[in-house]
This record gives sequence, structure tokens and C-alpha cells, in this order.
Amino acid sequence: MTILVTGGAGFIGSNFVLDWLRQSDEPVVNLDALTYAGNVENLASLDGDARHIFVKGDICDRALIDSLLAQHQPRAIVHFAAESHVDRSISGPGAFMKTNVDGTFTLLEAARAYWGGLAGDAKAAFRFHHVSTDEVYGTLKPTDPPFTETNPYEPNSPYSASKAASDHLVRAWHHTYGLPVVTTNCSNNYGPYHFPEKLIPLMIVNALAGKPLPVYGDGQQIRDWLFVTDHCSGIRAVLAGGKLGETYNIGGWNEKANIDIVKTVCALLDELRPSADGPYARLITYVKDRPGHDRRYAIDARKIERELGWRPAETFETGIRKTVQWYLDHPEWVARVQSGAYRDWVATQYGG
Ligand code: NAD
Ligand code: TYD
Repeated sequence: MTILVTGGAGFIGSNFVLDWLRQSDEPVVNLDALTYAGNVENLASLDGDARHIFVKGDICDRALIDSLLAQHQPRAIVHFAAESHVDRSISGPGAFMKTNVDGTFTLLEAARAYWGGLAGDAKAAFRFHHVSTDEVYGTLKPTDPPFTETNPYEPNSPYSASKAASDHLVRAWHHTYGLPVVTTNCSNNYGPYHFPEKLIPLMIVNALAGKPLPVYGDGQQIRDWLFVTDHCSGIRAVLAGGKLGETYNIGGWNEKANIDIVKTVCALLDELRPSADGPYARLITYVKDRPGHDRRYAIDARKIERELGWRPAETFETGIRKTVQWYLDHPEWVARVQSGAYRDWVATQYGG
């Protein structure tokens, strides 16, 4: 048997592929367009491993997907491929509509045709697993309860609107065509191989370079943080046992304000790689807020625990320490992802 993963060279996708092949010998066909966010070097440890078949290609390319499905006959598609950075969606929403909406539509149509041609056990076992975000639920007030799977969708950014659209397509393909889908909506991931334009890796690499640590607005925005390998185990649990047509929230039970995240990163670096210039918190710089910035996300992850027995293995304290240590141990990875495209983005976003 085989699974088809999309976006498996990105942050979460590459962690998922590595984690999958640590647990099982079931091969993975990995379809990724290698945008600025895709990095095959994340998968270097699989070089020469016949269980990993990497295909550079676009999820909007129907002919390519049809041929991959026909050739490899996967028992499941796990769909990570997306444009994923909120700030980029504000400055250029077009790519988000193309990949997140059109791409998911194309993949669903290809999956429907392929699944329609299966029979017996293969047809019954097939799954389309859509990986989505808590951002589709919008923003919470300080006293609101965390998001449950029944919260209404109220996306506020072009990114979250495009992901909400893709979730709706997945739901409709189940309701109308019976396609066997499951969807997971998770909170902010962190961990190894995280591209350093997102909060946690950006703070680590900037601090080590002695650069300012840009905190948007008052820094009191709250996110729930999920260590990436916990997300991977949650996906495996839902893929194996999730009810068809259902959605499952996956969260870390770690609500933190951004400024506290940044201070925690600084304190860990002070301990593990002290700077001769003094504590890293001296670099914290408040900058202009993100337009439409959601104030708070929080996940109620009791459904996945109740139905599938999943809980995160990491606390924020253990996960953030592992993450900071990973970046300290992999300066060559950081240097290589800081390519020309990355520098152009930093210049646009932070004025150089
Ligand atoms: P990422 O940006 O690091 O990786 C996305 C990957 O998709 C890249 O490898 C990129 O090359 C690939 N890709 C982009 N467009 C493509 C296309 N048209 N065809 C094929 N491949 C394409 O994203 P991530 O953080 O790993 O997120 C993965 C998934 O998880 C996304 O669907 C995202 O919405 C969701 N998610 C992420 C987070 C998070 O905290 N990172 C939280 C919740 C949900
Ligand atoms: P981010 O990692 O972009 O994830 P998301 O917007 O999907 O939650 O940002 C996490 C939080 O950190 C978000 O509230 C925005 C904030 N942030 C900063 O304060 N400064 C930064 O330089 C970045 C990239 C994010």
C-alpha cells in the first residue's frame, strides 16, 4: 500500500513524511511544487530510500495527479500543499486562491474519479485527509471558550478565507459525491524545519544574528502552539480512525501571548547560546501591527481525545526547548533557506 502526500517538502509535510517513515514501511509519494516554502533538503535523510518517491509538480495539474493516482494506486491522500503565510496573503492573495482553492478543487476532482474507479475493500478503505487550520474560525475574545468543531466559520485574512473555502469544498465533495474525507483543523505548529518567516523561527534566527525581534502591535495576540510531531501523530490517528465526513480540531493546550513566546525564546537562547552583548530580549522591537490581525485563537481538542485517544506528547516547555536546540544545531539549514527569495520577502515586509 502507498499514500500520496501533497506539500511534503514544506514545514509540516516534511515532518509528516519523516515521521511516517519512522513508524512504517508504507511508501509515500510526495507531490510538491517546491515554492519558496518547499525545501527538499528537509528530506535529505531519505535520499536513496525507496519508500520515498518525490515528484516535483503542482496540485493544480490535473493530468499529473491523474497519472500519479493511476500509477501508484494510493490508499489515501494526505493534503498539506498550500500557501500558508498570513502576511504574504495580505500582500499577494492571488497565489492563495490558486493553490488553496483551485488546487484543492483539482485534487478533489482527481480523487473522486480515482475513488470512483476502485472497487470492494480498496474503495471502502480509501481516504482523502484535508489538513486545515484553526484560523477558519476567526478570532476569539479573551473570555470566549476555545474553538470547537461546531464553531461557525468566520475567516478574516485572505489566507484563512482560502483555507475555509477549501474546507467547504472538501465537505461538499463528501456530502454530494460521498468521497470519503476527513478534515483536521490545527493550531500554530512549531518545531524543526520551520521556515524562518514565521514567528518562532524568525525570532531564533534574528536573535542569533543580533537583529531586531519584530513584535506586531502590542504583542498580546494569543495563539495555541502545537509541536509539529504531535500534529503528525494527530493526523495519523484521524487518518486511521476518524469518522468519514467529520472534522477534528488538533491543538496543543498551549495558549500563549506572542510577547511571551518571544521572551521564552530569548531566555532559552540566553541559557544555551549566551550573547556577549547581553540578554537577547534587548532586541525586542515593537513594529506596526498586521492589518486585520486576529486577536486570539484557542483550540478545544477534546473531540480527538474522546473519539481517538489522541493527546499531545509535548508541553510547550519541552517543545520550545527542542525547537531552539534544533536551530542551534542546524545553522547550515538556516543559511541555505535564507535564499534570495527569502531576503526579498524580508525587505518587503520589514523595510529591509
Ligand atoms: P509550508 O508553507 O511550510 O509548506 C507548504 C508546501 O506546499 C511547500 O512545500 C510548497 O512548496 C507546497 N506547495 C505550495 N503550493 C503548491 C502547489 N500549488 N502544488 C504543490 N505543492 C505546493 O506550510 P506548512 O506550515 O507546512 O502547512 C502545511 C499545511 O498545514 C497547510 O495546508 C496549512 O494551511 C496547514 N496548517 C499549517 C499551520 C502552521 O502552523 N504551519 C497551522 C494550521 C494549518
Ligand atoms: P505567524 O507565525 O505568521 O502565524 P499566524 O499568523 O498564522 O498565526 O504569526 C504568529 C503570531 O506572531 C501572529 O499573531 C503574528 C505574530 N508575529 C509577530 O508579532 N512578528 C512577526 O515578525 C511575525 C512573523 C509574526
